[in-house]
Amino acid sequence: MSSIDPEKLPKHVAIIMDGNGRWAKKKAFNRIRGHEEGAKSVREIVRTSRETGIRWLTLYAFSEENWKRPAYEIKALMKLLKSYLKGELEEMLENNIRFQTIGRTGKLPKDVQETIRQTLEKTAGNKGMTLSLALSYGSRQEMVDTVKTLARRVQAGEISPEDINEKLIGSALYTADMPDPDLLIRTSGEYRVSNFLLWQIAYTELYITPTLWPEFRKEEYLTAIEEYQKRERRFGATSDQLADKER
Ligand code: IPE
Ligand code: IPE
Ligand code: MG
Repeated sequence: MSSIDPEKLPKHVAIIMDGNGRWAKKKAFNRIRGHEEGAKSVREIVRTSRETGIRWLTLYAFSEENWKRPAYEIKALMKLLKSYLKGELEEMLENNIRFQTIGRTGKLPKDVQETIRQTLEKTAGNKGMTLSLALSYGSRQEMVDTVKTLARRVQAGEISPEDINEKLIGSALYTADMPDPDLLIRTSGEYRVSNFLLWQIAYTELYITPTLWPEFRKEEYLTAIEEYQKRERRFGATSDQLADKER
């Protein structure tokens, strides 16, 4: 049994789902089989998030840099994405889950874009949890797009350079309507963030596990949340100051 405190849940959990290829290699399967097994973890983690009461879940599914991969692997990933979305729509509707994406999704194949559009539309009114998939996502590219947006607004005379502050930048990012992640999980034991939500994770708690994504399931996810609940988030203040505030 897990001992999760429902009062101290992370509002937003973000996950770098890594290690599908290594899982497949370990089992002497091809990489695609690893991605298929990874999709099962996605289902379980989405379900568990909803059951636990997480309000925002963001999953790094395909990075801008992943376009470098062999064409057959990209093709398989796109096919898997499409069948995942079609297969999960029913459950998203039943469980009040709103679907959204972050990233340059205009680069995805047209049929995948169409499935995304339908999923967005059908789940738009759901309020239980927001599931965001980062697709063709890169944080530096997001910053480039954000700077362009703000530069255009200055050029149009809507804002002056002096108006630019953290809030305005936040509202021009792909994640404009989302709170910053409280907890970032990375599987497969890599100690890097691979161009994921660089602005947004300024004060996010990190949980890095050697577990490969296809083996990251409910039990360890709950452990990660428990671990998060033990952390003291100081945001630059001192421990004593936080204790004073609680009093
Ligand atoms: C994560 O698993 C899935 C994607 C990046 C799409 P990988 O495919 O990166 O697996 P490894 O890192 O090769 O083990
Ligand atoms: C990060 O995994 C991207 C996703 C999980 C979608 P990668 O496997 O692409 O990351 P690196 O290349 O090891 O940093
Ligand atoms: Mg990887």
